[in-house]
This record gives sequence, C-alpha cells and structure tokens, in this order.
Amino acid sequence: MTSAQKTSARVNAAPAETPTFPLNAWYAAAWSHEIEHALAPRTICGKEIVLYRRTDGAVAALENACWHRLLPLSLGWLQGDEVVCGYHGLVFDAGGRCTHMPAQETINPSACVRTYPVIERHRLVWIWPGDPALADPAEMPDFHWNDGTEWIGEGGTYYGLRCDYRLIVDNLMDLTHETYVHAGSIGHDAITAASFDVTHTDRTATVTRWMLGIDPPPFWARNLGKPGLVDRWQIITFQAPSVVVGDVGVAPVGTGAQQGDRSQGVNGCFLAAITPATATTCHYFWNFVRTFKKDDEALTRSINLAHVNAEGKGLYDQDVTVLEAQQRAIETHPRLPFYNLNIDAGALWARRMIDRLLADEAQRSAPAAAAE
Ligand code: FES
Ligand SMILES: [Fe+2]
Repeated sequence: MTSAQKTSARVNAAPAETPTFPLNAWYAAAWSHEIEHALAPRTICGKEIVLYRRTDGAVAALENACWHRLLPLSLGWLQGDEVVCGYHGLVFDAGGRCTHMPAQETINPSACVRTYPVIERHRLVWIWPGDPALADPAEMPDFHWNDGTEWIGEGGTYYGLRCDYRLIVDNLMDLTHETYVHAGSIGHDAITAASFDVTHTDRTATVTRWMLGIDPPPFWARNLGKPGLVDRWQIITFQAPSVVVGDVGVAPVGTGAQQGDRSQGVNGCFLAAITPATATTCHYFWNFVRTFKKDDEALTRSINLAHVNAEGKGLYDQDVTVLEAQQRAIETHPRLPFYNLNIDAGALWARRMIDRLLADEAQRSAPAAAAE
C-alpha cells in the first residue's frame, strides 16, 4: 500500500445501543495471582461477576447479585467454599445453588444465581460471559508466552481504563504511534518509514514490520550489547476478540533474523489481554516477557517501571492519556466518524473480526428473540 488516499474509508460511529463486544468468547477476567480465597467483584462485558478461589484451588465465578434482593454477593463473605449473602444470610455454593435460607427449612429449588464457565490458563483466569453451552476450551486465546518457563517476565500487570476496549486494540495493531506518543523512548522514525504486511486467518490478524539496517533504539541497544546497526522486527498478532501479542526484537544487521535465525539477537513479547467492562471502560492485562537475560530481576523490574511508574511517566501512562482523551472525544462528538489510513490496516482486520463475531451472535439470538 502506498497511498493513504487509496485506502481511506469512512467508518460511521455505531449507535450507542449497538453491542461493541461479543459475549460468546473467552475473556481474561483476572490474573491468577489476583484471585484468592476471598470475594472479588469485577464487571466483565457488562455483567457483574464475583470471583473467588475455592479451597481445592479452582476458581468460581458467580453473578454478583443475590437471588433474594439482589445485594451484590461480594458484600457478603465466604463460608468454606460457599458464599453467604451479607443482607439476610442466604448461602450459595460454587455452582450457584442456594444451600441455606434463614428461618425456613425448605429451600426454593429456583433459588440460584448464574455461574460462568471459567478456565485458568497462562496465569490468567478466563471467563465465558455468553451462552455456557457454547463455551469451547479450544477457542481459548493462545497466551502461552506468559507461562513463566521459556519466556520470563513479571507475570502480569492490571490496569482499568476508561475507554472502549477496541481503542486499545487499534493502538497495539498500529505501532507507528510509538514515534509520536512514545517519542524519546521506544519511538523511532524508522517505524513510520518502514513498510509492513498484514495477513489474517479466520480469528487472527498479523501486522509484520521489518526495519532493516537501522540504529537500535536505546532499550534494544542496551540489551543486545553489540555495537552497530540492527535489523528490528515488530510482528503483532490480534486474536479475536481482544488479545494482542507482539513479537518484537533486534539482531545485528544481516545476521538472518528476517530469514528465521534470531540466534544473534534479542527477542521479547508484549502480551495484552483486553476485556470490556462496559462499552466505554475496560480491563487491560499486560506483560512483557523476554528470552534474554532471564535471571536479571533488576531488568524485569525496570521493564515494568518503564511501562508504569510512580511519576506517571511510563509508556502506559502515555498511552492511557491518549486512549482516555480519545474516548472522551468520541462521546463529545458522537456523530463524527473515524477515517482510516494505510497504517490502520491491521486494526481494520481486527475490527472486521469483532464485527463478524457480533453479527454471528445477533443472528444466533434472533430466532430466540422472535419467539419471545
Ligand atoms: S438480599 Fe441476599 S439474602 Fe436477602
Ligand atoms: Fe503505546
């Protein structure tokens, strides 16, 4: 692609009531380390959910509203593996079934709260907020880089953002923003100068950018530890509906990295699982893992501090300023569309896949709605 003009397209803003996220998908709900034997409320895809770890280690996910008078169950407490409502003492087991009612022996068989399918994998707790009958473990996103074995990183950082989750997908699928948003750190003119390819499958879209024979940015120069020009790569893959994995790194120029031999270089991966909380807020589970200097704990810490730090000057802080301002602007100007450039090609594929999942879901629920 050579001309922004050629591929510019008008995208009309969706009406407010149009769903922006599919429900029939696995979404990261929490890092594993966040969920203990305690009630943890979280809003996932517009649903109020309470999570807790049972005594056998498995994670339970219940609707966070008591069957009786809807008090959030997270305001109650755990009694073994059961949840006691903090208002009138109804007790629910991890399967959502009521096991105790105060001042009566007979338990109404319909007294239950909804439960959600949960899978704990790759150091994350994943939830399926849609139809449980469709929850297929084979559709879990691939996040294996976070398993803590071959790739090393802190394990997981959580952020809550006031923006549509798709804005983060857009942000990660187009790293030309680094040149402007992250000028002075990972930004580099070569990113905007380099051409890129976009490929896709049914559920993934990949943006591949090689920057050959360039000066390495400071982070990569330091970690490569070899003087001279480098070949730099950014291979960013979206997995529908909301996971992005970025394979990034550098190798000394001409040592065959582009052809598949990265042995002379240094390689990292940023891992992003982005989960809608509501249409305008989201959860962002982030990590950066690497295969170099794996025992260097100070480096692990410094990578996290580069992302977010007490001074609010980390890379993440720079992104969040843009993303939340963008969300406010969308709400201020609901009739203004987005326009697309060549650089948006990867994000457009991601959005097409999200739209297709939404259309499938609307079609599946249409007969049921018509029959009501
Ligand atoms: S609201 Fe939960 S027991 Fe009454
Ligand atoms: Fe960024």
